Amino acid sequence: RMSIQIAPSILSADFANLERDLHAIDNADLVHVDVMDHHFVPNLTLGEPIVKRICQVSELPVDVHLMIEDPDRWAPEFAKLGVHSVSFHMGATHAPVRLARQLRGMGVKACFAVRPAEPVEPIFDILDEFDMILIMTVEPGFGGQKFLANQMGKTRRLRDEITRRGLGTHIQVDGGVSPSTAHIVAEAGADVLVAGSAVYGSPDPAKAIDNIRNLAQA
Ligand code: DX5
Ligand code: ZN
Repeated sequence: RMSIQIAPSILSADFANLERDLHAIDNADLVHVDVMDHHFVPNLTLGEPIVKRICQVSELPVDVHLMIEDPDRWAPEFAKLGVHSVSFHMGATHAPVRLARQLRGMGVKACFAVRPAEPVEPIFDILDEFDMILIMTVEPGFGGQKFLANQMGKTRRLRDEITRRGLGTHIQVDGGVSPSTAHIVAEAGADVLVAGSAVYGSPDPAKAIDNIRNLAQA
């Protein structure tokens, strides 16, 4: 079984106590930051100034998930802030290969995100342009939604393709990941697990992270 990375989503953190909540997840592998613009999704979160401060304050690599229109224009602005990775959506970008190359050229990992109704097969021919593929296991926009098990076929087909070609591409799953779904996503081939409400809704976030990691690796 491959090694599993846990990326807590601060969407479920207390935004009035963000520094405290960032330090509560020091045993995680990445911190997942959801950027929403009221256009690509019906919710609005945070932008560049807050992402910049998170990069300064967090001990962990910062994984930015852009749920915004026109990532071709805005993703490079986030890449300048000291982040580890930037995810942008298939349904929002016009030139994913150009954008991925631009991000990589800035020293940032490039990640392509697909919504539940979007297929992964069109990505196969451009897979080597990306460091990670993000498979949404809820419709993007909100934390605390129910896990979509019907995304596991897609996850498995992508893992098979990555394995067949000997690529190192990570597969991230985002939405509804919890102690009860961790083994399902890992079994299907995901190796980076985002968890928002399952971590920050727990009285002991660090323990919740270890628990999810152990269940995924079991
Ligand atoms: C949803 C976001 C997720 C969200 C996941 O659009 O992309 O990162 O925080 O929250 P949970 O883990 O509660 O489903
Ligand atoms: Zn996310």
